[in-house]
Amino acid sequence: AGRRGMRFGSAFAWSPPDADAGSFANPAYAALLQRDCGILVAENQMKWQALRPSADRFDFAQFDAMLDWAEAHHMAMRGHTLLWHKTQYFPRWLNGYDFGATPRREAERVLDTHIRTVCGRYGTRIGSYDVVNETVDEKTGALRDTSLSRAFGGTEPMLDRAFQTARAAAPHAQLVYNDYMSWEPGNEAHRAGVLRLLEGFRKRGVPVDALGVQSHIEPLGEGTPGQMAARQEKPWRAFLDSVTAMGYDLLITEFDVADQQLPTDFATRDRIVAEYAGIYLDILLGYPQLRDVLAWGMCDKYSWLNGFKPRRDGTGTRVTPYDTRFRPKPLRDMIARKL
Ligand code: XIL
Repeated sequence: AGRRGMRFGSAFAWSPPDADAGSFANPAYAALLQRDCGILVAENQMKWQALRPSADRFDFAQFDAMLDWAEAHHMAMRGHTLLWHKTQYFPRWLNGYDFGATPRREAERVLDTHIRTVCGRYGTRIGSYDVVNETVDEKTGALRDTSLSRAFGGTEPMLDRAFQTARAAAPHAQLVYNDYMSWEPGNEAHRAGVLRLLEGFRKRGVPVDALGVQSHIEPLGEGTPGQMAARQEKPWRAFLDSVTAMGYDLLITEFDVADQQLPTDFATRDRIVAEYAGIYLDILLGYPQLRDVLAWGMCDKYSWLNGFKPRRDGTGTRVTPYDTRFRPKPLRDMIARKL
């Protein structure tokens, strides 16, 4: 990746020393990061729930330790995320927050304080932020609302404000809108909603530089990986063409390949995962606007999909580049070949 001016990397976590976790403090996992990654992202430790225990208190200890470790090992770090705009991922204090007699002004204060505090603390150490994460409803394509957007009197003004504040607080940084509108069938309304959002940003002159394509992909339906991919390639390219035609850059921010519906047999499963990933990567890498590819974890043992999309046969997911014993799988070779 480095030779062609790109970066490959992964999500990772914080843990106490030597814990069995996808953390820099687990030597087996740290070795995978050091072997393959040039850029990292905190899986949870920059989210409001982690960083901001109450409206007026911040706790940076875990994220600081992660950033120190990344820098000590010559890796960049992305910021994820300044605003995950979903009620279920807001800290409890924010869902129940009393915005008082002038809710708009108080909502601006709460949001601005967050963005300025985080961006101000890290300065140029973070070169790219997922400023807003997942604000488009996947079923309808409409913008979600939360306690914060209601206090703003609408989601749009809140999103605009988030990007404007981030631009002022981190003028050097790439500002990203990040979402999971993947290419599998059933995501049409979601993609249309994301396009409308990106068009609106351009019309209103909101400073957004790139679309983060999370890329939690999943081979589904009949046929070979090639046949599965062929069914979705055309609308997917049309979507990416529209995004790039508006002048946005692209990033793959959270790559993994869900295997919940795939056969039990490891060899078969690993082959389908790798082939499907290869076709997907070929399409994305065809866009010169794409420079960064980040996996959402390097090792099956710690993948979030063990909880989010568990296997019913009890065999555990095989969705990341390395298996539970830290051995490279066909997916790892495929990524290396494509990048
Ligand atoms: C996930 C983490 O992996 C989990 O550990 C956590 O419980 C929930 O969040 N899209 C995103 C990421 O933008 O922040 C999510 O990460 C995965 C989906």
